Amino acid sequence: MSTSNLTIQTGEGVMKVFKWITVGALIVLGAAVLLYESKWHRRFVDATARKPSGWAGRQLYRDPKPHYKSFQLVMDKLGLTANDKFLDICCGGGGLLERALQTVSQAAGLDHSQDMVALTEENTAQAVAEGRLEVRQGDAGALPWSDATFDAVANANALFFIPEPVQLFREAHRVLKPGGRFAMITAAKSNHIGLFFGPWRSSMTLYADDELADMLYQAGFTRIEAYSPDGMHQIGYGVKK
Ligand SMILES: C[S@@+](CC[C@H](N)C(=O)[O-])C[C@H]1O[C@@H](n2cnc3c(N)ncnc32)[C@H](O)[C@@H]1O
Repeated sequence: MSTSNLTIQTGEGVMKVFKWITVGALIVLGAAVLLYESKWHRRFVDATARKPSGWAGRQLYRDPKPHYKSFQLVMDKLGLTANDKFLDICCGGGGLLERALQTVSQAAGLDHSQDMVALTEENTAQAVAEGRLEVRQGDAGALPWSDATFDAVANANALFFIPEPVQLFREAHRVLKPGGRFAMITAAKSNHIGLFFGPWRSSMTLYADDELADMLYQAGFTRIEAYSPDGMHQIGYGVKK
């Protein structure tokens, strides 16, 4: 191995250690602010999850490994095909879009965080350059697309921060073509989830399966499913008539 290769590998190793020390420090800091419903707590929740921003926010969503299982559950539910035009609402760093773009030829993503929009564009640069992906900054309650634009719409790991979930569902329903599918995943309303979500939990709203089904119904969906398969995740699904 040449000296320059060794130097690069050592540098990458140091960056990895540094990254995980930072993530650990954020968790400890989060646990501390958990005790206080303060403006610092709100800022922490915003910067790390509700509207990720800054260096730490970008690191957390650059490679969202903790969300891979949920991405798989959403993909399984939607059963995307090459001809589907796909939208991810609250796309974060674009992890779910990357997965979907392995199948679909056209996709779009939306997030209200400018840093997440930039990170998605960075992580999916080739698809953006090829004109296969459009990423927009905006609010999940007012999507910047016309009626009946998409065949499949997703929303992953964000519903717990949305103040008016029915409005998000209405918008997802509006931008779907007739026969289009919507699948979302959030945290299940179960006992052990509180511990797992630590400092974020007090800012998250979770729903019983029948509440979720009712909200999807209010938004106009048919063939509704709402279930918590493993006590950790909760899945919602509906089809536009
Ligand atoms: C916990 S992250 C999940 C990101 C991504 N879906 C994933 O699973 O990795 C929540 C994301 O939802 C976005 N978000 C929260 N509320 C939003 C809203 N009202 N409109 C648009 N994006 C929103 C945040 O900016 C953040 O990127």
